[in-house]
Amino acid sequence: MPHVVDCEIKAHQEVAPGHYRMALHCPGIAKEALPGQFCMIEVRPGYHPFLRRPMSIERIFRDGVSILYKVEGEGTRLLSGYRTGQSLNVQGPLGKPFPLPGEGKRPILVGGGIGVAPLPGLAERLMREAGRTPDIVLAARTDSLLLCGKDFAQMRCRVVLATDDGSAGMKGFASDALRTLNPGPDTVVYCCGPMPMMRAVHDVCAELDAPCFASLEALMACGDGVCMGCVVEANVEIEAERMVRVCSDGPVFDSRIINWSA
Ligand SMILES: Cc1cc2nc3c(=O)[nH]c(=O)nc-3n(C[C@H](O)[C@H](O)[C@H](O)COP(=O)(O)OP(=O)(O)OC[C@H]3O[C@@H](n4cnc5c(N)ncnc54)[C@H](O)[C@@H]3O)c2cc1C
Ligand code: FES
Repeated sequence: MPHVVDCEIKAHQEVAPGHYRMALHCPGIAKEALPGQFCMIEVRPGYHPFLRRPMSIERIFRDGVSILYKVEGEGTRLLSGYRTGQSLNVQGPLGKPFPLPGEGKRPILVGGGIGVAPLPGLAERLMREAGRTPDIVLAARTDSLLLCGKDFAQMRCRVVLATDDGSAGMKGFASDALRTLNPGPDTVVYCCGPMPMMRAVHDVCAELDAPCFASLEALMACGDGVCMGCVVEANVEIEAERMVRVCSDGPVFDSRIINWSA
């Protein structure tokens, strides 16, 4: 059962233009959360904005979690105005986490832009519970929007960078950078980012027979499996349904079950 709690903001800072990291004090959520899960955050008490905003859990600590977010519209703009010491009402943890790789599989994490948010916590869990230090692909439009590079370097992960404009790492897309890490049947790829990026990552993995798990985004209302506002089309019927709910069936899916052409 997810918690709904007021959480004190322990730290809040801009980490790149328009991108923020916020640490929240929420021991109950932290105790149950796993990487890949998310929270629904009430960005302002009352009825406007009416809906909570979904945010991936970035890292999990003993007494709380962090989130990493990009200012997109009104909700995230309001969020960016909060200061350390203030409180936010948070519901979580929600959704299904990233699964651990099978015995002997090499994990590769692929993050595009702000999609990198759930991956530092996943890297920590892979090292702690699977004994594997993952390889990382970080991709963004330009150098200043490559996030978490230092965090992965501190974890001693091999990091391959890709930017659209060539200002850091190779000039190209996440899927091009992924190929340089030789994904195949002995690897497991975990990705999060814009849909076109994840589709291209899925295509590379399907071609090279590499299992791939993608963390999807969708507009969400309830975040809890009730409203059907977040459905995406699957390739297969799951419990007699073709549509899957990103919030409760996901957000993490085996990329082969998603209809990427829909
Ligand atoms: C499971 C999940 C985890 C997420 N994790 C993160 C995260 O860790 N960091 C982060 O920065 N963002 C994350 N998002 C996206 C984030 O929820 C949206 O950017 C945010 O809700 C936008 O709210 P807003 O009020 O600022 O913008 P709005 O005014 O609501 O929208 C501004 C623009 O963003 C688009 N948008 C709104 N909501 C979403 C959404 N859910 N997915 C994609 N586009 C959206 C709108 O279509 C519009 O174009 C996540 C979304 C989901 C579903
Ligand atoms: S957001 Fe309501 S069912 Fe997913």
